[in-house]
Formats: sequence, structure tokens, C-alpha cells
Amino acid sequence: MARHLITSALPYINGIKHLGNMVGSMLPADVYSRYLRQRGHEVLYICATDEHGTPAELAAKEQGVPVDEFCASAHDAQKAVYDGFALAFDYFGRSSSPQNTEITQHFARRLHENGFIEERAIRQVYSPADGRFLPDRYVEGTCPHCGYDKARGDQCENCTRVLDPTDLIEPRSAISGSTDLEVRETKHLFLLQSKLQHEVEEWVARHEEEWPQLAASIARKWLNEGLHDRAITRDLDWGVPVPADTWPDLAAEGKVFYVWFDAPIEYIGATKEWADQDPENRDWKSWWYDADATVRYTEFMAKDNVPFHTVMFPATELGVREPWKKVDYVKAFNWLTYYGGKFSTSQKRGVFTDQALDILPADYWRYFLIANAPESDDSSFTWEHFTATVNKDLADTLGNFVNRVLSFSKKRFGEAVPAGGEPGEAETRLGTEIATLLAEYEAQMEALQFRKAAAALRALWSAGNSYLEEKAPWLEIKTDKDGAALTLRTAMNLIHLYAVVSEPFIPGTAAAMRQAFSLEEDTATWITPDEARALTTVAAGTPFTVPPVLFAKLTDDDLDAYKERFGGEPQPA
Ligand code: 2FM
Ligand code: ZN
Repeated sequence: MARHLITSALPYINGIKHLGNMVGSMLPADVYSRYLRQRGHEVLYICATDEHGTPAELAAKEQGVPVDEFCASAHDAQKAVYDGFALAFDYFGRSSSPQNTEITQHFARRLHENGFIEERAIRQVYSPADGRFLPDRYVEGTCPHCGYDKARGDQCENCTRVLDPTDLIEPRSAISGSTDLEVRETKHLFLLQSKLQHEVEEWVARHEEEWPQLAASIARKWLNEGLHDRAITRDLDWGVPVPADTWPDLAAEGKVFYVWFDAPIEYIGATKEWADQDPENRDWKSWWYDADATVRYTEFMAKDNVPFHTVMFPATELGVREPWKKVDYVKAFNWLTYYGGKFSTSQKRGVFTDQALDILPADYWRYFLIANAPESDDSSFTWEHFTATVNKDLADTLGNFVNRVLSFSKKRFGEAVPAGGEPGEAETRLGTEIATLLAEYEAQMEALQFRKAAAALRALWSAGNSYLEEKAPWLEIKTDKDGAALTLRTAMNLIHLYAVVSEPFIPGTAAAMRQAFSLEEDTATWITPDEARALTTVAAGTPFTVPPVLFAKLTDDDLDAYKERFGGEPQPA
């Protein structure tokens, strides 16, 4: 069995995330982790809040609280939402942890010793109107590559190119909008990525064939543009301090590392946070340092994060000249749009994860989002599509099947699984179909093709409905009581099978389905296509209960209310 290290891009500390953030990183990572655990692999799923940088400072200022207090409560607020979404992290850490500070400073010292960090005097954008140096993302302007007029000084969201604030055409302060910007001189640390270009290229070449096209093409594009040396320090109060033993002057000036330098290192930092909670039993180094070949590292992220994960962080890791684990597989996502327009945290457009949970339980969202994950292209969230999917797939195909079978059986045979006769031709056919669909489902999960996996899962649910319609136990019972009992017992085994294999997508509902049966053994482990137990685990005589309706059908009034509350008008892309 492999040991799977899984990380999802660290959500910025400020603001509750929207559904687009959820589907592009944490949720698929959770689905995949759950699947692998069920299959018996050792899994470590790590995430954390990305707490440094200007947005945190500014948000804290706005609320009039110290930035560390702001981050502590914002971390808890995000964690509560992720718990609500049933994200089963092994650890959800904080990039402001002492562990991350320690490892980040260690990385910087090693990079310096190896000749990959250099002190340089630079001219930096200073805004007299704001009375401060402006960090990259607080300079906005027009992208020189694609003409997008809201490009930030660190990256253009539109074409994903990495920028320097001085690249921007008609730059302005994102804080005050002031265009009266000056350039002043100050010293910073530079990561000499240009010296690492060849190594990174070789490393990418060894991996890109296995990566999905989206990740590989973005990495290539970045490499083809050439790796530039980048300033990795900032003039901020909040961040990992530049270590005074190595850079006394810069430390004295209060320089901190740039948030994108310490954020990916927090994948390691958070693993150490996890281990430090139970040092006797948890070993963070075996996952990250000189890890053996059984450790497979998979990262989840949206496409704007790909350059940092496929090029910049690997460059850092390579330059440290220590055997730190590097990513094996990069699962990247396109954008989820809201009626074709952007979900926007700053402009409060779209559905936020806390609001989503106010409206409906997590499983409704989990299923819809993964079934429509923006894998090969952007995909659009609309309330019409959401309600139709919930009603068709969750309420009708799955929920109604479970309820119909259990209620009818209880009414006619009592509260234990009926025996009935031996399986016949219909059951054999069903068994073959189930095995084929399970194999398809498994293959898509192994390939991290979530939409296709969802389609296979849906097909498994449908196969149960077709079987039930064909056998029609409500008619069968009139002439062949044993036959009806067999049909119901078989259908109940399907419910059990659904409970097992739907768990990665809809863990709450899966638990309700499994708990409908009083089974002595833990039967939650995966059922493979070649296992005969797919349709025999739940034996005749097993007591069961009828769970409450698993998925409520959403009405036209619900749809109108959602659109009214969130706005459903198409937004210009
Ligand atoms: O884009 C973002 O939301 C960043 N906070 C992702 C950081 S991922 C990692 F490298 F830490
Ligand atoms: Zn651009």
C-alpha cells in the first residue's frame, strides 16, 4: 500500500471562501483522500490557512483588531465551515505557526549558503497618499501581455502571467486608487531562480507527462518565459521575519518573507504542527524529508496557483539541497463561474461556503460541485442547474430508491432483511453490470477524473433503479412472495454498496445509508468489482430501519428564493 501525502492550496486567511475556491482545491482533495483511505492506503491530508501578506494586515486594520487576533478568529471561522463541509483533513494548520517560521527560515538560510539568495537594493513603489511602500498585489493596472485592466502587481488573474508591479501599464494604488506613485530604494532578498532554471526544467521534464495537460502546459509556459530572480522579502509588520543571524540589517529593518515564499513551505510546517501534537505517534519527516518511494505526493489547486507549485516551490526545494519531498502529481482546476461571470470574494458575487451550508447540508453541495468540477474547462454554477441536479440525481435516483426499497420491505416483511429465493437471471445480469460500473468508477477515481467518476457513481445508482423497475416487487409480491423478497434483499445490498462507494462524495448520507442496517462488522472498506460480496454483504435477517428522507426535493419556490437572494442574472465574463 502506498503512503499518500495530499495537500490542497492553502486558502487565504481573509474572508470565507466561495464555492469556486472549494471545488478547485479542498473538496476534490477530500474526495480523493477519502477514496484512498477506504481502499486501505495510508493517507495524510494537510491544509492550512495562508495567513501572511497584506490582505490579512488590511482586513485586521479594517476591523480594528491586531492582526494575530484577526487571523486566529478568521482561522477558526474557516475551519468551522470546512468541518461543515465534512472535509476530513488530517490537519488544518496555520502558516503563521512557529513550525512554519522555523522551516521557512531554515530554507532561506540553506538557499543563502548554496548561493541562491542575494541581497539587492531595489526601487520599490511607494505611495505618498497611502504613506507606505505598496506590496506587489496592491499595485493594480493594465496587464502588458493581455490588456486586462485589473491586473495585480504580482500576477495577472486573466492570463495567469506573473508580473512585477513595474510591468503594469498605468499603475495605481489598490488601497487608495492614487496614481501618484513614486519609486524609492530599499534592500531586499532575491531568490536567484534564474540559476535554478535548468534544474527545474529537468525536474519538470521528468514529471510533466504524468501531469494533467492543464498543469503541464502552465508549467511549460512559465519555463519558456524563463525563470526570473524574484524578491522574496517585503516591508510588512506581519510575516515570517528574515532571520537576524543571517541578515542582521534586513532583520533590523523588520523585513519579512513574501507570503508566496512561506505559504508552500507551510505544507511542511503544517505537517510538523500535526506531528507536534502527538510526537510519540506521528512522524512528519518520514513524509517530507528523505521520504522513501512509497510516499506519493498529490497537490490540488486552481490554475492560477499552478506556476507557484510546479516551478517556484520546486525551485526553492531544489535550491535548498536537501532531500525534501517534491510533488508527484498536480491536479489543477479551471474556474467555476457564477452564471458565466466571476465568483468574487471582494465583490461579494456568487455563493459563499458558509451561506451554502445555511441553505442545504454539505452533501448536496459536495455532489453537485464534484459532478460539475471545472476539470477540462471552466464550468458555470447556476441555480437552475443546481436544483435540477439535486432533484434528479440525489432526490430521485438515489434518495427515492433507498426510501422506496426500505419502506416497502418494512411494510410487507417487517424490520429485517427478507430472505427470498436464490438469485436468478436478473440478479446475475445486475451483478455483471455493477461490476463493470464499479470498475469504471474505480478507474476514474484512480485517474483523478472527478466528473467522470461522478458519472460512474450516478450510473451505479441508476442501475439499482432499472433493476427495481424491471423486477417491480410491488407487483411481484402478489404472485411470488419469495421472488419479491429476493428483489428487496438484492436492492438492500445495493443500498449498502452505495453507502460504501458514495462515501467520498457524500459522506453524511453514506453514513445514514450504512447505519440503516445493523451490521456487526465494519463494512465501510471498499468493495472491488471482482468481489462477490457486492450484492451479498447484507444477509437475510439483518435488522434495518428506514432513514429519514435523504435528499429533499427542491421546489420552484426554492429556486426563486435562491435567485432572489443571490442574484441569478448572467454576469459578463
Ligand atoms: O491563491 C491562494 O489562495 C493562495 N493562498 C494559495 C497558497 S497555496 C500554497 F502554496 F500555500
Ligand atoms: Zn494578463
